[in-house]
Formats: sequence, C-alpha cells, structure tokens
Amino acid sequence: MKVIGVVGSGQMGAGIAQVAAQNGYQVIVEDIISAALEKASIAIDKSLGKLFEKKAIEEDPKTIASRIRFVSSISDLAKASPTLVVEAASENIELKLGLFSELDREMPKNCILASNTSSISITKIAAATRRPELVVGMHFFNPVPIMKLVEVISGLATSDATRSTVIDIASQLGKTTVQSKDVPGFIVNRLLLPMINEAVFALSEGLGSAQDIDTGMKLGTNQPMGPLALADFIGLDTCLSIMEVLYKGLGDSKYRAAPLLRQYVDAGWLGKKTKRGFYRYD
Ligand code: 3HC
Repeated sequence: MKVIGVVGSGQMGAGIAQVAAQNGYQVIVEDIISAALEKASIAIDKSLGKLFEKKAIEEDPKTIASRIRFVSSISDLAKASPTLVVEAASENIELKLGLFSELDREMPKNCILASNTSSISITKIAAATRRPELVVGMHFFNPVPIMKLVEVISGLATSDATRSTVIDIASQLGKTTVQSKDVPGFIVNRLLLPMINEAVFALSEGLGSAQDIDTGMKLGTNQPMGPLALADFIGLDTCLSIMEVLYKGLGDSKYRAAPLLRQYVDAGWLGKKTKRGFYRYD
C-alpha cells in the first residue's frame, strides 16, 4: 500500500493530500491544530465536489476522501509507515528545522522527507536530519488541485535516487516537474515575487490604481490574475517573507520589499484570508 504523509493542513497541505488521494494514495495528514484539520477536510470535500461536478474526476469524491486520515501528532503519522512525507507547515525556518528533526527521529529509515517550502534552503533543512540524502524540495502551487507544476529542488546532499523518486511520484500525481537549484526562491518565486513586489511599488507611486495595474497585466500579458490579486491570493505575509528570503539570500537591493507591502502586513491586511488586502473580500 502506498502511503504519503502530509505535515500541516493549511491550503497547501490540504491540496497536496487531496491530489495524492485522487491518485490512489493512502494519505495521513498531521496538524497539531484540530480546527485546521477540520477546515482542511471541509476544503477537500468542497474541491472534490467541484471537480466531480465538472467531470474532472470520475471516482466518487467520498471514496477519494476516505483515503485521507487526519491525525494530530507526528508519532501517529509514523504509525502508518509512510514512504514519503511532504511537509507543508508555515514558512518559518525555526519551525521547519524543528519539524524535520522530529520527522527524522520518528519516520521509517527509508522514508523520503520532502518540504513544500517556497524559498527556504533545502540544504539547511536537510542538515537538521541524519538522512540529508533523503531530504528534497517538492514545491507545489496554489490551488494544488488545479496547478500543474511541482518544482523539485535538490539540496547539496540529496541523492539522485531521492530526486528521481519524487519526480516519479509528482508525475503519478498528474504534475509536470521542473528542477531547480537550491537557491533562494528557486525558479518560479525568483521571477514571480519581484513582479508582485514591483506591482506594489507601482501602486504606492500612483502609477495606476490596483484595478488598472491588474487589468493591465491580465489583458496585456495574458495572466489569469493581476499581480495584486495574486498577492492577495498567496497571502501578503507569505509574499513579504519570500521577498525577505530573496533579499537576504541573494544580497541584492533589487529584492527589497516594497514598504507598502510591509505596511499592509503590519496592519494585518494579509489578503483573501483576512478578507482585506489590496482588495476587499467581504
Ligand atoms: N479545487 C477545485 N477546483 C478549483 C479550485 C480548487 N481548489 N480552485 C479553483 N477551481 C476551479 C473552479 O471551480 C473553476 O472551474 P471551472 O472553470 O470549470 O468553472 C476554475 O478552477 C477557475 O476558477 P474560478 O472561476 O473560481 O476563477 P478563475 O478563473 O480566476 O481561476 C485560479 C482561479 C485557478 C486560481 C486562476 O485565477 C489562476 O490560475 N490564478 C493564478 C494562480 C497562481 O498563479 N498560483 C500560483 C501562486 S504562487 C504559489 O503558489 C507558490 C507559493 O510558493 C507562493
């Protein structure tokens, strides 16, 4: 039986769990916050319902959802003997280092430990374990059930076997992979976040309204969402933390976060999840 563990049941964790279950895996989702597990379960049911309605999946959503089990401790996750664990906790380095050290102690010896980090060094995360050759980056995109890409990131010590196993698994999940070096932001966020950050500078300089900036980029460059709407969708706190990783890790002032982005985060206007960002979602 193929078992995948997912640590963290936020938007990304729930999406990864759903896609794995849709593709026949048994999935164990771990989160210490039980309300987060409940929210994930509801989001998964809703998303599966939508996909079933438009015939994007054939299997009964209830059967798919029955492959997902929710637990509240890493030791309960370990009891299911997963062959792969994908960590999708908050983008906080101390938290991730602690989690990987715990996963290393608790998981079966051959279990691959992947991080869905969007910008933190895989090499550093791997160094918190005694199995750095089995640690790898698997960066999914939001909304996971819809977005086709997984970036695969090898740390300094990641083995070729680990890399090719996760590329195979991503392909079984219906995703296309690209491989990136372990540098801050990897490929996609290295390009995407400076664009979003520049849109915030443009807004603060009065270059155009939020609607004009977004409509300009949507219709002028065929993006499904404008950069400010996308920032709200990703979460302004996440955008800020990725900009800080780029700025610190690459040491170039061109990556400095727009002061207005920082101000919005200070105000608690984090985008869609707080119902206010560059737009309002009441
Ligand atoms: N589950 C199932 N279906 C979903 C879904 C979900 N979670 N989210 C959206 N959908 C479906 C909708 O039902 C709809 O289906 P339909 O076309 O058959 O009716 C379809 O997707 C389109 O959704 P909407 O009509 O609600 O709205 P949009 O047309 O605006 O699409 C979107 C929404 C797919 C999010 C699209 O706007 C988009 O692709 N936006 C860009 C997303 C993006 O760039 N993501 C990457 C963010 S960066 C990242 O994740 C990295 C991290 O490290 C920061």
